[in-house]
Amino acid sequence: MSTPAGFDTPLCALLGCKYPVIQTAMGWVAGASLVAATTNAGGFGFLAGATIAADEVEAEILRVKTLTGDRPFGLNFHMFQPNAQQLLDLAVKHKLRAVSYGRGPDKKTIGRLRDAGIVCMPTVGALKHAQKAVEMGANVITVQGGEGGGHTGAVPTTVLLPQVVDAVAVPVVAAGGFYDGRGLVAALAYGAQGIAMGTRFLMTSDSGVPTVTLERYLQARDPEKIQISYLVDGMPQRMIPNEYLSMLERAPPWQRLGLALRLALQWKAQTGMTLAHALRVLWQGLREDASSAAQTMMAASAPMLLQRSMVDGAPAQGVMSSGQVAALIGELQSCEHVIAGIMAQAQARRAALFPAAAPHQP
Ligand SMILES: Cc1cc2nc3c(=O)[nH]c(=O)nc-3n(C[C@H](O)[C@H](O)[C@H](O)COP(=O)(O)O)c2cc1C
Repeated sequence: MSTPAGFDTPLCALLGCKYPVIQTAMGWVAGASLVAATTNAGGFGFLAGATIAADEVEAEILRVKTLTGDRPFGLNFHMFQPNAQQLLDLAVKHKLRAVSYGRGPDKKTIGRLRDAGIVCMPTVGALKHAQKAVEMGANVITVQGGEGGGHTGAVPTTVLLPQVVDAVAVPVVAAGGFYDGRGLVAALAYGAQGIAMGTRFLMTSDSGVPTVTLERYLQARDPEKIQISYLVDGMPQRMIPNEYLSMLERAPPWQRLGLALRLALQWKAQTGMTLAHALRVLWQGLREDASSAAQTMMAASAPMLLQRSMVDGAPAQGVMSSGQVAALIGELQSCEHVIAGIMAQAQARRAALFPAAAPHQP
C-alpha cells in the first residue's frame, strides 16, 4: 500500500520512509530490534547510539540492516560521549540516512555528514536552539515540547511547534506528547512534516523493556504525576516517580552529589572514557557556559540509572524516563499495530475535517 494522500510529506522522501512517523532514540531502549520493527512498519527509527558499547555499535547497525532488508534508518549520538567520532564515521561508512543529536558537532562536521547524504536532524526544546541548529547546518529540526519524555524543555509542544515552524526554513518534526492519529493530523496542521515519538514506542511489545518496568508505565494513569525533576542529573528530566526519586527528594544535596559522582564514575568505566576525555569535555563546556559544563558531567549518571530500569528490570532502583503521554497509553501493541492505527485514525480525522476532499457523491 502506498502512503495515503495528504501524508506523503517531503520528510518521507528525505528519510526514505512510507509514513511521516519517527521513533526517536531512547537510551537502552532503541536498539536494533525496536528500530527494525518501526522501520519495517513504514516508520523511521533511530538507534540510540549513546548507550551502545563502542565495540558493538557497528554490529548493531548491521543487525538493523539485516532485519530490515537494508531499509533507511538513523543513528543518535551525544557529542560528549567518548566515541562520538566513531559513530559519525560509522554513519558515513554505512550510508545511514539520518543522525539525531542534542548539542551538535561543529559546522565542518555537519557539512561532512550532509555531503555524505546524511540528514542532520537535532532535537531542540527552545526556539533559539532551533535557530542555532539551522545556522550550524541542520536540515531537519525535531521540536520537543515540555510534555515529552527524558530531558525536556519548559515550553509545551502547542506553543513551541508553531514558533519554530514560523522561524526556520527547514522541515520541522513535532515531538512531545504524540501517540495517535489525531496528533499526527494536528502536527501537520501546525505546519510540521511528521511526528516523532519516544514513549509510545517504548510502550510496545517490540521495545524489549522488561515486563516489570513496562507494568509501571502502564500503571501511570495520571499525566500530572509524570513529573519533571532536576534531582537525577541537574537537568530537567520527565519521569514516572518511583522509590529512587523519593529517596533523592529526601536526601541532602551532598548525598545526591555523591550518588551522581559514583554513577558518573561507573559510566566512565563502562564506556572506557579516559580521564583526559572527561576533562576535555569539561573544559570545552566551561569555555561555552559554566553551568552547562557542570550539567554535562552530572548527566553521565543518568544512563546508569536508565539502564537499571530498561535493562536490569529494577524499576524501583532506576529512572523511568517518560513523556506525560504514558498516562494515555493503556496497552502494549506491536510497532506495526501502533503505526497502522495512527495512519488509519489520521485518515479518518482528515476525512471528517475535510469532507470536500473525499470522493464526490452525485
Ligand atoms: C526512556 C527514554 C530514554 C530517552 N533517551 C534519549 C536519548 O538517549 N537520546 C535522546 O536524544 N533522547 C532521548 N529521549 C527523548 C526521546 O528521544 C524523545 O525526544 C521523547 O521521548 C519525545 O517525547 P514523547 O516521549 O512524549 O514521545 C528519551 C526518552 C525516553 C522516554
